[in-house]
Amino acid sequence: TKLWMLDDPESASADPVGEAAEMLRSGGLVAFPTETVYGLGADARSSEAVAGIFKAKGRPSDNPLIVHIASVSQLDGLVLPYPKLAEELMERFWPGPLTLVLPVVPDALSPLVTAGLPTVGVRMPDHQVALELLSRAGCPVAAPSANKSGRPSPTLASHVVEDLRGFIDGVLDGGATGVGLESTVIELEDEHTIRILRPGGVTEEAFRQACPDIGVIGAGEQEDAALQPRSPGMKYTHYAPKGELTVVQGEPGDIPAYVNPLAEAAKLRGELTGVLAFSERVHAYNADLVLDLGSESKLDEAARRLYALLRRFDDAGINRIWSEACSDEGLGGALMNRMQKAAGGRVIRIDK
Ligand code: TXA
Ligand code: MG
Repeated sequence: TKLWMLDDPESASADPVGEAAEMLRSGGLVAFPTETVYGLGADARSSEAVAGIFKAKGRPSDNPLIVHIASVSQLDGLVLPYPKLAEELMERFWPGPLTLVLPVVPDALSPLVTAGLPTVGVRMPDHQVALELLSRAGCPVAAPSANKSGRPSPTLASHVVEDLRGFIDGVLDGGATGVGLESTVIELEDEHTIRILRPGGVTEEAFRQACPDIGVIGAGEQEDAALQPRSPGMKYTHYAPKGELTVVQGEPGDIPAYVNPLAEAAKLRGELTGVLAFSERVHAYNADLVLDLGSESKLDEAARRLYALLRRFDDAGINRIWSEACSDEGLGGALMNRMQKAAGGRVIRIDK
């Protein structure tokens, strides 16, 4: 696995992005930074290349991949004609953390990308390195998050190296990603309504602000979501640290008094304990490792930090973790969604 450091003047390569683009064109697997998380890219038209992604990640084959593009013209021949609303959303949010699920042109892509669905998720990332790579590769690039399946998504190149070294051809190191959580995945319910399949970098509030007449069906409002997930990826335990994580909801000031006795008891059983807390209360916990999400008034900072902090619990061998919940306003919706996934559904309300 080749690692290109993009901000290193001593770098051995004069044109790392060009080399990476060439690698993609010749069927290789290249991890690259985006504004959300690092992606693991392959030529979306080549089944051989795309099969490599599933293999490297250990990803279930029924979970489709997002296709990344550098310009809207790349959608010609890739997706069927789409309604005005889709066009407006692209204009407003691309490049950016929004994935649109649209009907795919049959045979335009490897069937592995869509996991046999008649639709494909497409997005244009808001990251200079990603855009340059995609435009120089010249092909649609299928790219899931560049982590081993089930592990927290990578927000640093070192996370990619940790999970995938030896399994992929290259990693472009562009430093820390911006948003820190994956893109918002939506489909169009009708000409005026979108359905959020996965909450992410673009919030419900942002959709309403951009298109005042838009109808938004939130991710939580899906009937029988557990039985028939519309976004196949949402049914898997995800983003999970190795230790058992419990999310604690309630009056924030009351959470330490609930968690500390449990942490004490776990320590007596010989377990290593961890807490994920907002800055306002990091000093109120007695766990072995207490990590700081930043201020509860700055949820964008918590989003940026979350995955790296979950990995730190793993590095320290923590077996029991409690996390403070946050408001689900704005980016908090996506943050809570990821925390709940990481907790495998272990969420406790202490004020009821
Ligand atoms: O921010 C992101 O979206 C990152 C970066 C690398 O772009 N990518 C990412 O990909 O998060 P991945 O594979 O980890 O997640 C893709 C999600 C899954 O939940 C998958 O089920 C959903 O998108 N998805 C993809 N294609 C779909 C489709 N045709 N219909 C419904 N859901 C789809
Ligand atoms: Mg992922």
